[in-house]
Amino acid sequence: MTDIPEDLVEQATRVRENAVADFSKFKVGAALRTEGGDIFTGCNVENATLGLTVCAERVALWKALSEGARAFTEIVVVTAADEPTPPCGACRQLLWEFCGDIPVYMVSTKGKTDTMKMSELFPRAFDKSDL
Ligand code: THU
Repeated sequence: MTDIPEDLVEQATRVRENAVADFSKFKVGAALRTEGGDIFTGCNVENATLGLTVCAERVALWKALSEGARAFTEIVVVTAADEPTPPCGACRQLLWEFCGDIPVYMVSTKGKTDTMKMSELFPRAFDKSDL
């Protein structure tokens, strides 16, 4: 697989500082690239209900889709966890449906990285081909 895209790492690391994570204290940043080369970023946003929390990946994806972007090439997720953080199950469903089999670059600010394709992270997915 290709090298980790440093421009996305830089942007995900920057936007991670905006995380609204007063409850978990677990800050996440994501940066998603479109086929046209645009970059959309997102951080996690928590609130008092906890259940209405939105992950960084989904914030980036919603920003992109709402601006009209429809095709994507890669996403970077940055946390400060000891091990690189993979997208949660809900985000996997949405990344699969809207981005397809893109590489997901997981980066810890402590140094470790991991890369997986969406088809590895989310095999045998339900999507519109099942309808
Ligand atoms: N979180 C993300 O934003 N992305 C992930 O990939 C994993 C989890 C957030 C949700 C919540 O705000 C915090 O991390 C702890 O679960």
